[in-house]
Amino acid sequence: MSIDGIHEKFPALRQTVNGRRLVYLDSAATSMRPREVLDAIGGFYSRDGANPHRGLYDMAQRSTEVYDGARAAMAGFIGADAEEMVFTRNASESLNIIAYCLAPELLKNGGNIVIPISEHHSNLVPWQVFAKRYGAELRYMYVDRETGELPDAELLKIDGETKIVAFAHVSNVLGNLLPAETLVSAAKDVGALTVLDAAQSVPHFKLDMRALGVDFAAFSGHKMYGPMGIGALYGRRKLLETMPPFLFGGDMIEDVREQETDFLPPPSRFEAGTQNAGGAVGIAAAAAFIEKIGFDAIEKREKALLRRLVAGLNSLKNVTVIGNRDENAERYGVVPFNIRGVHPHDAATILNEYGIAVRAGKHCAHPLLTYLGAEFNACCRASLGVYNTEEDVDKLLEAIPEVRRRMNLGD
Ligand code: ALA
Repeated sequence: MSIDGIHEKFPALRQTVNGRRLVYLDSAATSMRPREVLDAIGGFYSRDGANPHRGLYDMAQRSTEVYDGARAAMAGFIGADAEEMVFTRNASESLNIIAYCLAPELLKNGGNIVIPISEHHSNLVPWQVFAKRYGAELRYMYVDRETGELPDAELLKIDGETKIVAFAHVSNVLGNLLPAETLVSAAKDVGALTVLDAAQSVPHFKLDMRALGVDFAAFSGHKMYGPMGIGALYGRRKLLETMPPFLFGGDMIEDVREQETDFLPPPSRFEAGTQNAGGAVGIAAAAAFIEKIGFDAIEKREKALLRRLVAGLNSLKNVTVIGNRDENAERYGVVPFNIRGVHPHDAATILNEYGIAVRAGKHCAHPLLTYLGAEFNACCRASLGVYNTEEDVDKLLEAIPEVRRRMNLGD
C-alpha cells in the first residue's frame, strides 16, 4: 500500500475547520483511523459481536476466534508470544497494572525506582504513589535540556537498591529516543526489572520485545491508528505467571469455590470481565494497516517531514524549538515549540482558526516542563502521522507568524 495519498483513507481528516481544510498535527495525542480500521470494527459488531470465550453457538465461536486472532496478531506485531500479550484499556492502564501487581512484592523491603525526568505522568505517577506507599525512593535521571538525551552519569542512579527502571521509548514531549539497550543492560546488571512505555514509539518504528529485552511494555491502540479504549500490556511470560491478578471476575477465572478461587494463567488472568473484542479487532486491523504501508516508508516520510518542520520553525522569528533544535537529530513524531510572549494555549487557539490542530500545555509531563524551564512552563506540540504531508507542515509554518500579529505583539 503506497503511503502517497494515504490521507484519503481517513474520513475524519476530510473536514473543514473555520472554513479551512483540517491540518491535523496532534497524532501523538491520538491518531485518526483509516477506513480499514473503521470497517473492521463495524464488521465485527455487525457480523459476530457475541461474548468471546463463553458461548458454544456459532456467533460466539466466531467472536472467540476473532478475539484470539487479534491477540496473536498483536503479539506478532511486537515480537512476543500470544501468552505475553494482555489486552488492556490503554498504555496508562497497562502501566498501572504493572505497578499494582509488582510493587507490593518488589518494594516490600524498600529500594528505589529509577525513571527519566521526561516521563509522561502515566509512567511517573504510579511509581510515585507506590514508592510513597512502600517507603521506596523515586529517583529521577535528568535528561540534557538541549537534546533530551540521558547523560552517562545519570545512569549511575541505577544501583544495587534499584528494583524497577521505567522509561518511555520516545518522549511524548521531546520526541527523542531513549537508549533502551543501555537502560535494560544497566537494570539487568543490578537485577532490576524494566518497564517500557512504548506509546509514542509503536506507530513510528518496528518494536521487537525479544530484541529490546525489556520485562514489560505498554502501548495504546489509539496512537497507532486504532480505536480508543484498547491497549496492550506486554510482559515476559515467566514474570506474568508470578503476578497476582489486578481485577477479579468474568473471564479470568479457572474455578471458584465458596471460599477460594483459582485464576486462569496469563494473559486471561489480567482480563477480567467481558473483553473489548471490538477494540481488539480494531487494534489488530491498525497493526495490519501499518504493516501494509511498511515501517520503512513510514520512517522515511516522517523523518523528511520532521526535518522540514524543525528547519522551518528554526527559520521563524520569535519561535523556539524546545529540546533538540537540530533538524537532523534523530526524533520521532513530535516537535515542541514556543512562540515568544504567547501562552501555548493562546497559540493553539489561534492556530485552530487557521484549521490547524496542535496540542498545547504541559502534555501530561508536568515535571519535565518545569525542569525544562520553557516560557510559561508549557509549550505547543506539533505531532505527525502517516497521513501528514509537506503541505500540512507548510500550513503550520505559514500560520505561526500570524499568532503574534493577532496578539498585537508584532512579528
Ligand atoms: N499521551 C498523549 C499525549 O502525549 C495524550 O498527547
